[in-house]
Amino acid sequence: MNYPIWEVPIIGGGWLIGIVAIIHVFVSHFAVGGGLFLVLTEIKAYKNNDPIILNYVKKHSKFFLLLTIVFGALTGVAIWFTIGLVNPQATSALIHIFVWGWAIEWVFFFVEIAAVMLYYYTWDKLDHKTHLIIGWIYFIAALLSMVIINGILSFMLTPGKWIETRSFWDGFFNPTYLSSLAVRIVTAIVMAGIYGLLTATFIVEKNNRHNVLKYSSKWVLPFMLILPVVSLWYYFTLPDIPKEIALGGISFVSQTAIIGIIVGFLVFLIVLIFGYFNTRLFTKLIGIVVMILGLSIMFAGERVRESIRKPYVIYDYMYSNGLIINEFDVIKEQGILKSAKWVEIKEINEENKIQAGKNGFKLYCSSCHIVGGYNDIKPLIVDLDEETIAMMINDLENYRGYMPKFAGTEAEAEAIAKWLYKFNLENKKEQ
Ligand code: HEC
Repeated sequence: MNYPIWEVPIIGGGWLIGIVAIIHVFVSHFAVGGGLFLVLTEIKAYKNNDPIILNYVKKHSKFFLLLTIVFGALTGVAIWFTIGLVNPQATSALIHIFVWGWAIEWVFFFVEIAAVMLYYYTWDKLDHKTHLIIGWIYFIAALLSMVIINGILSFMLTPGKWIETRSFWDGFFNPTYLSSLAVRIVTAIVMAGIYGLLTATFIVEKNNRHNVLKYSSKWVLPFMLILPVVSLWYYFTLPDIPKEIALGGISFVSQTAIIGIIVGFLVFLIVLIFGYFNTRLFTKLIGIVVMILGLSIMFAGERVRESIRKPYVIYDYMYSNGLIINEFDVIKEQGILKSAKWVEIKEINEENKIQAGKNGFKLYCSSCHIVGGYNDIKPLIVDLDEETIAMMINDLENYRGYMPKFAGTEAEAEAIAKWLYKFNLENKKEQ
């Protein structure tokens, strides 16, 4: 409640973060798995004395360099911009809790970027062994950056013992640390194969294309069989309420999960049939389709992971509207308007009640409800009168949607209800 609130029209801040983050994640997982793909493919080329594979991996490394450094880094910076604007309180918390984690993370980024540039620009200039060492340095730095960021991301859903101890290591090695790392590593390898399939379609000579397609498929197929196993492991390491939400507690979440599983199955079949058995039929178009389907799986997975955290942004520590749970009682006593630093109205009276209600809604509800947009509030209250709305607000955690407890006073609940009820009145007038 210490920062101004930026309301993103229609899609809402959560979705904005989601869109930027999913694009980034799609590239950043490739940056890890693809690094391994580069070195192992290079080794294979030397071992079999195969100039075709070697030529392919050189070309692939250019695509890799441009995509990971330019696009990956750009979207990474974009994430910082969006989370800082949409949820400054949570961003600040994560920075403070994991200061040294971030510092280490940025060292690895630096090593990654330097290594991948060296790797690309020293093809044919260094001996094989030195060139491969640079490749390995890249891959290990990329993997370690994932090992670090995973601690911070999984912390948000399962801070575990950190809630009591406030110790860095308890937060970092939290209950879902290992299982989510496993999901990420397997995903990274699948991504490496999916990108490999796409670049393979640019090989003109049929036989060579066949070989590289088949080779890339082997990065996808076995690991897509492991993916459900590690995902299930992840599921079992979750606390009860997130499990319940995933299984249908919020219907769109379970629907998203099911779509993700079906699309995953589809990708497996397409790669098996066209990438492995009938490589002649694996065209550029199919490569792009597999890519888009891969992006959809990522989208489904990340969306489910973010949604099962409701109503928190950091579980048991901070609600998604930025309220810190430890401060709940103090805020409840003086109300949200007085506690927040960036609202115009502090005292409610008869004249400013509606405006105060608007302020209160923006402060407490707009992280999840956008008027006329994402999770629109209007249809949710359409049949209700003002008193009922106020009553619901006071009792928020007991309704549909896994909402936070209301930290405002009764007068604030009434003000929000009055402002919301205006929408119902407008509705009636139109009819
Ligand atoms: C953490 C996110 C979150 C916050 C914060 C939040 N809501 Fe909700 N709310 C939801 C979700 C999700 C639903 C379920 C929507 C659905 O089922 O279509 C919901 C449902 C509702 C409903 C319908 C409940 C029912 O059972 O019919 C009302 C009314 C409502 N919200 C009002 C509010 C108000 C007012 C605030 C602020 C004081 C608020 N919400 C804050 C997420 C949130």
